[in-house]
Amino acid sequence: MTQEAAPSILSIVGAGSLGQAFAALLAASGQPVTLLATPASATRLASVGRIRLQGIVGLEVPVAPPPASVGSVEVADDPSALPEGAGLIFATKGHQLPRAIEAVHAAWPRTGDGAAWVAGVQNGILKDDLLARAFGPDRVVGAVTILGAQREPDGPITVTSRGMTYLGELDGRASTRVITAVERLRKAGIPAEVPADIRGALWSKACNAAGVFGVSVLTRMSAPGMFGNPHLIRAYLSLIRETAAIASACGVEVGDYVSFPIRTFLSLLNPLLNPLLNERPEAETVATLMIRFGGGPSAPTGLATMPSMTQDLLAGRPLEVEQVFGDLVERAERVGVAVPRLTLVRDLIRGLDSGHARPAPAPGRTVTADERTDG
Ligand SMILES: NC(=O)c1ccc[n+]([C@@H]2O[C@H](COP(=O)([O-])OP(=O)(O)OC[C@H]3O[C@@H](n4cnc5c(N)ncnc54)[C@H](OP(=O)(O)O)[C@@H]3O)[C@@H](O)[C@H]2O)c1
Repeated sequence: MTQEAAPSILSIVGAGSLGQAFAALLAASGQPVTLLATPASATRLASVGRIRLQGIVGLEVPVAPPPASVGSVEVADDPSALPEGAGLIFATKGHQLPRAIEAVHAAWPRTGDGAAWVAGVQNGILKDDLLARAFGPDRVVGAVTILGAQREPDGPITVTSRGMTYLGELDGRASTRVITAVERLRKAGIPAEVPADIRGALWSKACNAAGVFGVSVLTRMSAPGMFGNPHLIRAYLSLIRETAAIASACGVEVGDYVSFPIRTFLSLLNPLLNPLLNERPEAETVATLMIRFGGGPSAPTGLATMPSMTQDLLAGRPLEVEQVFGDLVERAERVGVAVPRLTLVRDLIRGLDSGHARPAPAPGRTVTADERTDG
C-alpha cells in the first residue's frame, strides 16, 4: 500500500506557466522542489538563472541544476534526477502528457520507492487514466487547480489568480500523502484543500471547461464577455448539462466549487430543484447569472481574459480538444448518454485545431477564398 507511506516532498514536470509558478512558490517558501523541464526549457532557465513571477505575485527565485540549495528551484531535464518518495505533479499540456509520462516512468519511481505518487493538473478526466495506466492506480492522486498563470514572450510568468488547488484520493479515502501535500502548498502561499469528493471536483471542473472552452473558442469571446451575453450563457449551460449527465452516469455528482459552482448553475435551470422557475421565465434566470458572473457591457476582452484554449487558438498552438471534448464524447458513448452538443463542439474545434491534420488539397488545385476558414 503506497498511500500511508512517509510524507513526500513535491516535484513538478513541465516548466510552463503552472509548473514555474508552483515550483517558484514552493522554493521561495524554503521547500525543496525539482522542476523537470524539456532540454530546451532547462537550458533557457539555466541561462536566465531565475524564475520571475509577476502579476498578483511578485517574486524572483534562483534556479540551479541538481543538487540545488534551499531557496532555489532545482531544474533538471533528466527524469532520473527526480527525488525518491516525491509527489510528482505533471503540469504539461494534455497532449504532451503521454510522452512526459513515458519519459518519467522509464526512470522513476525507482525500485522499492513505495511512497512516490503522481498527479496531473490538466483539464479533463483523461489524465488520471493515463497516469494510472503507467504508474498504477494506487500511486495516482486526483488534482484540480484553478491557479491562473500565463507565460510572457520575454520569459516571466504572470500569475493572474491564486485560485484553489484541490487534491484528493480517487477512492475517497483520507490519506497522509494528500494532507501533507496540501499543507506544503499552503505553506507556499498556494490555496489548497482536500474536497469531500475529488471526483466531484474533477467532473465539475470538466463541466466548466466544456462550457467555457466550447463557447469561448467558437466565438473568440473573453470569459467575462461570454457571461455578459444571454445567448452564450444558454450555450454554456447546455454544455455543462450534457457533461454533468455523463458524470452522473459514471456515478459522480457535480458540486459547487470556488469559481465553478456547477451544481448551482444546473439547479437554477432545473424545475425540479428550483421552484422559482414556475414563477419566472428562463430569461430571468439567465439574467441572474449575468448579474452574478458577467462583466457587464464594459467586460474586459483582452487576451489575458481569454480562456486558455482560446489563447492557444489565437496563438496557433495545438488545442487540448481531445483531452477535453474528445474524451467526454467517448465516455458518453461508453455509458450510453447522448451528447449532441458536445459532439458538435468537438468536431468544430477539431476543425479549428492546428494540431489536427487537415486533408491537403488535390495536387494542382488552388484553395479558393470560400474554402479558407481562417478569416
Ligand atoms: N495556466 C493556467 O492558468 C492553468 C490553469 C488550470 C489548468 N491548466 C492546465 O494545466 C496544464 C498546463 O498548463 P500551462 O498553462 O502551464 O501550459 P504551458 O505553459 O504550455 O506549459 C507546459 C510545459 O510542459 C512542458 N513539457 C512538455 N512536454 C514535456 C516533457 N516531456 N517533459 C517535461 N516538460 C514537458 C513544456 O515545455 P516546453 O515549453 O519546453 O515545450 C511547457 O513548458 C494544461 O493542461 C492546462 O490546461 C492551466
